[in-house]
Amino acid sequence: MTHLLTAAMPRDAAIALLDLAEDMHQIQDRQVKKLPALRGRTVVNLFFEDSTRTRSSFEIAGKWLSADVINISGKGSSASKGESLRDTGLTIAAMGVDGVVVRSGSSGAPALLADWIGRPVVNAGDGTHEHPTQALLDAFALRRRIHGDAARGKGLDGVRVAIVGDIAHSRVARSNALLLPALGAEVTLVGPPAFLPPGAGPTRLGVRATTDLDAVIAERPDALMLLRVQLERQTGAVVPSAAEYITGWSLTDERLARLGDEARIMHPGPMNRGLEISSRAADADASTILEQVTAGVSVRMAVLYSLLASDHPSPTDGGSR
Ligand code: CP
Repeated sequence: MTHLLTAAMPRDAAIALLDLAEDMHQIQDRQVKKLPALRGRTVVNLFFEDSTRTRSSFEIAGKWLSADVINISGKGSSASKGESLRDTGLTIAAMGVDGVVVRSGSSGAPALLADWIGRPVVNAGDGTHEHPTQALLDAFALRRRIHGDAARGKGLDGVRVAIVGDIAHSRVARSNALLLPALGAEVTLVGPPAFLPPGAGPTRLGVRATTDLDAVIAERPDALMLLRVQLERQTGAVVPSAAEYITGWSLTDERLARLGDEARIMHPGPMNRGLEISSRAADADASTILEQVTAGVSVRMAVLYSLLASDHPSPTDGGSR
């Protein structure tokens, strides 16, 4: 793997990354959370959009692998003076960094950066395009919920996942709709007509799409992934209104009761409690939301390790490079 720009990958590659993340996950139980694998390597987190989970978990992941991690945000960097992404990237590369993690509001920015700087680039979310490490951590958390400690080597064969909400604006939905089917899951996209990809029936992503959340809940999916309503990406009036959205597509307490105890409740965060998900649903035993956050560190360790220490035999054997 040279870069991680997309969640579109073969099943074997996805399972290998998830299994490596399982190795990394062990460190969460240790008192000293440090592996020497990336000692002497420098990773820059270049965030042109706000983030809590992704930025901090990439920072923790790099530090737990002993890399030197530098955080640069749009505000406070020369980007705010008008410096282009290309010039910012070339400037960082000229300082000898080994890898760049980038979040941008512009779809396709990480791929351009990868072409320009000749260093491994990780897409930490680009516009409405993709968020591959989010999809990997979602798959990791779901696989663990289903298979527990026996998750290693397994996919998500036959697991029915409904992704609900603002599909059109969601890089999380797109990356999950690419990754989860590769692992064997059956994905259904659910949302208001204005938030679904154009056209009825199977979408260009090859997965089912529907506006009827209640019909999907009646099918008893194995996991329901609620998406944040991205008010900042709406142009003009929000369609549907908040009240209409809650009526048709929110995981309310009433829908939670109909969903039953078996379905896992997922959300990439940050949540709008009371809009796309009720507080009771977010905090239910079936909720994997905080497990997804924990998985984010393990998965991002696996990604950084794969890109920057690929010749290393095992991440947890105490070796160094
Ligand atoms: N899920 C996610 O990308 O969250 P942040 O915006 O907080 O990084």
